[in-house]
This record gives sequence, C-alpha cells and structure tokens, in this order.
Amino acid sequence: MTAKILDGLAIAKAIKEEVAEDVRELARRHIRPGLAAVLTGSNPASQIYVNNKVKTCQQLGIYSEKHELPDETTTDELLELIAWLNEKDDIDGILIQLPLPPHIDTVRVLDSVDPTKDVDGFHPLNVGRLVQNRPTLVPCTPAGIVELLDRYDIPVEGRRAVILGRSNIVGKPVALLLMHRHATVTVCHSRTRDLPAVAREADILVSAMGRKAMVTAEYVKPGAVVIDVGINRVTDLAEVEELFGPDEKRRQSVKTKGYTLVGDVHPKSVSRVAGYLTPVPGGVGPLTIAMLMKNTVRAARRRRGLDHE
Ligand code: GUN
Repeated sequence: MTAKILDGLAIAKAIKEEVAEDVRELARRHIRPGLAAVLTGSNPASQIYVNNKVKTCQQLGIYSEKHELPDETTTDELLELIAWLNEKDDIDGILIQLPLPPHIDTVRVLDSVDPTKDVDGFHPLNVGRLVQNRPTLVPCTPAGIVELLDRYDIPVEGRRAVILGRSNIVGKPVALLLMHRHATVTVCHSRTRDLPAVAREADILVSAMGRKAMVTAEYVKPGAVVIDVGINRVTDLAEVEELFGPDEKRRQSVKTKGYTLVGDVHPKSVSRVAGYLTPVPGGVGPLTIAMLMKNTVRAARRRRGLDHE
C-alpha cells in the first residue's frame, strides 16, 4: 500500500479563499479585521513563521502589525505592549509568537491577552470553553487538523485516535477536538510504555512530539490516517536518502538551501503502511496559518456581535 497524501496546501488555499470572501463581505460594512503579531527575540524559525503570517494577512485583505522586540525585552515590557494592543480598536487578534525567550514569564504574558482577541486560543478562559465544547477561539494547528479530516471526508466518530504529545499548543487541544467529535482518544507522551503498540491501535494517529522521523511503520496500523505535526531540518544527503529514498527534489533542496524538512514521521517507512499521510512541508503547516486567518475574522465578527450570522 502507498499512503494517499493529504494535501494541506490545497485545503489551506480553499480556506483562505473563504476567509478572503468573508473579509470582502465585512469591508462592505466598513469593517477591516486586524492582527497584531508580536515577535520577541531572534529565533530564526519564529521570524519565518511571523513573516508568513503577516504576508498571508496582506494577501487576504486583513490589516496587520508586526511588533518586533529584542531578546532582552522584559516580561513587564511585553505586558505593557499587550495591554496597549488589547485596547487598540483596529486590532481584533493578538498573536504572541512562541517560544518566548527563557527569562520571560510565558504564562503571565499569555494570560494578559484579551480573551476576545486571543486568536491562538491559548488563554485559560478559551481553553476552558474548549474543554466544555462551547464556542470559542480554537488553537490553530488542532483546528486545521480537524478541518483537513472534514474536507477529506475522513470519519472520526467511533474511531480510535492516538495523539503523540501532550502540549498545550497541539496535543491537548487536538485530543479535545477529536473527543468532541466522538473519537476514542488516547494521549501519549515521553513516559508512555510501549509507545509503538499504543500507536498501532490508532485509526487516526497525530504525531506532535517534535522528534525527527521517530514514527516508523511499527507505530502504524495498516490503513491508518497519519497526521504529522513535526518540523525538523535534514541537512545530510545520506539521511535524505534514508528518509525519502531517491527523491531528486529533496536532494536539490539540500544542495541549494542547505536543508529539507521532515516531520515526526519517517515518510519512506510509514507511507508503505498508512492509508493517508500528511506531507512535510505542505501538510499541517499551511493549515495552521489558514486557521489563524479564519480565527482573526471570527474574532472581528464576535467583537462586533456579528458571530450569530
Ligand atoms: N509556536 C509554535 N506554534 C505556535 C502557534 O501555533 N502559535 C504561536 N503563537 N506560536 C507558536
């Protein structure tokens, strides 16, 4: 069997077209959704992510502001910026790019974002609403995963889902979303015993551990749906061959850019067993940005009491 590839790029494009239509509809009422992205420190991956988010806003007609703060920014300085953005009427969504530098109190910072502008869905009020399956702003990567399953008509109800990773950003919220859709959900982590055996029970396997190519065929039930949330760089051509087989595009990427990307899933090994697989890149990543845009428009509507329409 060769796994069918779940095309996150194509689904993200469709979502963004819908969001752009919503933005045009709001424009007719003189409403322009706005996103503030706060980038603290010099993490190169975070810089790329924030730039992509701002660029996507521009493509869809969403107003955006990028706030870049130096590594030595204090918690109080960040709190001050967020307090200002909370009050700013042209801002509907506030995104604090993570990870923050280690000296910053991340919990205090995230708790200070106005829950109505919390487009990442990280505020405890929104997390609580998600736990209770009430309408809320849902974290973008988990929301994107569910959107992907829906748009490929992959059934969730009654199926076994196994999540590898228990982070607040992905593992816990995706477990809740799948539970609310009536899956039977198991959440695994670094202390889980016999991880491959637990993972092999999954009809839907979501890997968000952040371990390069850890998930091999022995983790996957034949025909399972495998969602790969990991992003890791591969710089060595022998490793490219081992992970992807003879893949000239990947080799070229290493030669020109210095790297290619692989997720938590070993693509060559797992694609022989899985029924469906998200690629890296072009799987979950683009969906995360698309859902951020959708959340920003949603926040703009909710803040104006239009969400019932
Ligand atoms: N860092 C890694 N993933 C995310 C995310 O979804 N949102 C934010 N703000 N930071 C991240």
